[in-house]
Amino acid sequence: MRAILLLTGLLCLARAQNQALMDYLERRLLAIEDRISTWHDQTSRYASELREFKQQMVGMLENMDKDKETLRNDLNGMSTRVERVEREMDYLETQNGAQPCVDVDDKLVEQEVTIVKEKNKAKYSKLTDCRDMISSIKAMKILKRVGGAKGMWTKDTGSSSAKVYIFNGTSEDTLYEFSSIRDFTASPGMARAKAINLPHSWGGSGHTIYKGHAYYVKDGKEFQVIKYDLQNGTVVDSAVFPAQEQVPVYSLTPETYIDLAADEEGLWAIYATRENERNICLAKMDPNTLDIEQTWDTPCPRENAEAAFVICGTVYVVYNTKLPSRSRVQCVFDVSDMVTTDEAPLVYFPKRYGAHSSLKYNPLEQLIYAWDDGYQILYKLIMKKKLEV
Ligand SMILES: *[C@@H]1O[C@H](CO)[C@@H](O)[C@H](O)[C@H]1NC(C)=O
Ligand SMILES: *[C@@H]1O[C@H](CO)[C@@H](O)[C@H](O)[C@H]1NC(C)=O
Repeated sequence: MRAILLLTGLLCLARAQNQALMDYLERRLLAIEDRISTWHDQTSRYASELREFKQQMVGMLENMDKDKETLRNDLNGMSTRVERVEREMDYLETQNGAQPCVDVDDKLVEQEVTIVKEKNKAKYSKLTDCRDMISSIKAMKILKRVGGAKGMWTKDTGSSSAKVYIFNGTSEDTLYEFSSIRDFTASPGMARAKAINLPHSWGGSGHTIYKGHAYYVKDGKEFQVIKYDLQNGTVVDSAVFPAQEQVPVYSLTPETYIDLAADEEGLWAIYATRENERNICLAKMDPNTLDIEQTWDTPCPRENAEAAFVICGTVYVVYNTKLPSRSRVQCVFDVSDMVTTDEAPLVYFPKRYGAHSSLKYNPLEQLIYAWDDGYQILYKLIMKKKLEV
């Protein structure tokens, strides 16, 4: 009986201890649950704050995008306006330059027109079926700066020779020949060039290299075209240019009286005479005999012209302003009457700070070799087809 009582007592004690443990555990659990729910609250508050913040940011970003767009539009508008003003200023300058010629005697004008008609009447028979005309300038590459402000550089425009020729200055007699463009750009100055001493100084920057020969105008008052064989170093032929009372052909490059140019069709001379002082003349030359085969009076003024080049029998005259601005083709004359200035695109050269003293077209590469304030530059052209009439 005692034993049973003792056992019951022990059991009671054990239950009480157990209860205490259970209570304790329950309190702990409650506390943990409390804490978890606090965390939960905090996290969801953070989450919603984060969401709000994100929304604010998105809104701000959208506004910034809008602002950026407006800014971009404003900038675009501004640059178009600047360009337009630039063109208008250029245009005004050309207009003003031409004004002194307004009050020319009517009779004289009539007479001139007849001469023009007479001169241009003969139809030009093309030697090739080339119908390319310039569409735009695709790229510009500045290769080097050697020599003085004025000069001319070119490859042979009538052969696939890789050689490069440099005529530095407008009244020198040393022609520099490099074996390739790469050699030219890698050379310190003229160090790697072969110096060719020509028998006469040249005048201006209107020379050309065509089928292994240098064609240049001898310096001096008598305009003699020299044909010089680059292989054996001899003067093969020379001829006095038959035009009378010559005047500088481009008013902005006054050293050049005759600009010789070669294209797909052969050899051309761009020049001007006192007889038709306002405009540029063009002559087709026989590269073998230096005879003049045909001449034209172009409608292109000399005033504000800096250089010109010929592609497929079309002369492109490039104009600038006295304070060099952007060079552009503003007058075009086609000997086969397929392109007029109105139809030709107004081609602007990329902005430079000097002026072109020469622009030489290479028909095989469709590149223009330009000399701009001592820099040797290449312009890559995009061509299109002339339209048949
Ligand atoms: C190039 O010509 C300029 C003058 O036009 C002259 O000062 C310079 O020395 C010449 N350079 C070379 C390498 O002949
Ligand atoms: C040089 O070559 C030309 C042909 O291009 C030839 O007519 C002339 O006789 C040659 N002169 C000399 C000195 O070899």
